[in-house]
Amino acid sequence: MQSTVVSSWNDFDPLRHAIVGRADFTCIPPSEPATEAKVPEDSDMRGMWGPRPLATVERANAQLDNLVNLLKSRGVRVDRPEPIQWNQAVITPDFTTGSMFGCMPPRDVLLTVGKEILSAPMSFRCRYWEFLAYHTLMQRYFDEDPGFRWEQAPRPRLADDSYQAGYFDEITIEERLKRTAALDFVTTEHEPLFDAADILRIGKDLFCQHGLTTNRRGMEWLQRHFPDHRVHSVNFPGDPYPIHIDATFVPLRPGLIMNNPNRKLPDEQREIFKANDWEIVDAAQPSNDAPPPLCYSSVWLSMNVLILDHKTVIVEESEHQQAEQLDGLGFEVLPLAFRDAYPFGGGLHCATADVLREGTCDDYFSQQVAAHESEHI
Ligand code: ALA
Repeated sequence: MQSTVVSSWNDFDPLRHAIVGRADFTCIPPSEPATEAKVPEDSDMRGMWGPRPLATVERANAQLDNLVNLLKSRGVRVDRPEPIQWNQAVITPDFTTGSMFGCMPPRDVLLTVGKEILSAPMSFRCRYWEFLAYHTLMQRYFDEDPGFRWEQAPRPRLADDSYQAGYFDEITIEERLKRTAALDFVTTEHEPLFDAADILRIGKDLFCQHGLTTNRRGMEWLQRHFPDHRVHSVNFPGDPYPIHIDATFVPLRPGLIMNNPNRKLPDEQREIFKANDWEIVDAAQPSNDAPPPLCYSSVWLSMNVLILDHKTVIVEESEHQQAEQLDGLGFEVLPLAFRDAYPFGGGLHCATADVLREGTCDDYFSQQVAAHESEHI
């Protein structure tokens, strides 16, 4: 049997082993306190819930399989989750909701930090059991890698006091933007909550997006759990739906990050990057005017790229402008059709989770700056 080594400290060192999600049984979950937040006012998904049409599942799975083949052709070992019949209610002592979600985006729930893979305390009730789709893989890594740390953050209760009641009543985009800037989100500080996809790993520093799915207590928990790391809170006031950092702030290689030009990192939070000679460039404009039908995400999945090493990146094939920018920055760009997978939970980065990347836990931000200290958890 091929033996497993779990280790990954960032999103850009050479990728050797990854998990790629599956679309099977994916549901549009019914409305609940946290997902009201996610569905835009004018979305074609409002009021809809239930299993996604089989033909769309098959198309998404075909594109996910193509991603697996591309990764394998580049020498990356790939594992897949075991989809559960997601069209089942979730019932706990604290809440009931009509269905689960899916396991196309492993990035949302699995946080790899060094030799540890941690399942996140997600704020969506429909995602309460999602980590179970990865249980067999985790068991296998545990058996094969004696150093693997198989972890889980405290399971949240997700009772009503974890959410602000009425947060979304008649909320406009302008109001959403005001609240993002004011760090006023649907999730309260009642208990630690975070999605793994809100955590940007850059060696010794973890940059966490404070938004609809990650709260300060979640970051505080991460800081205590990873005492050798520095956990920073970042936020992006231009984002009316601040969920997951990987269509907003995407490191490309040591010293270089691309930032969504509509969701700029505020000046005072840029200081730490400047002080350590990291360049932040605006990402190219998306080449698509709209996301595909029944999709939660924005057109900015254009920047949700998957980096294979410091010189190689997979980009969705219709995203010509993003590809051109990355080519100009010195990358070999591998185009891959992936828009049929977007509605199932995101782009190329979302659809994967790291098991092994080469490299070590480097200190890229040895100059910690005073201005940012206020945001240092
Ligand atoms: N929140 C991200 C976006 O849709 C995934 O832009």
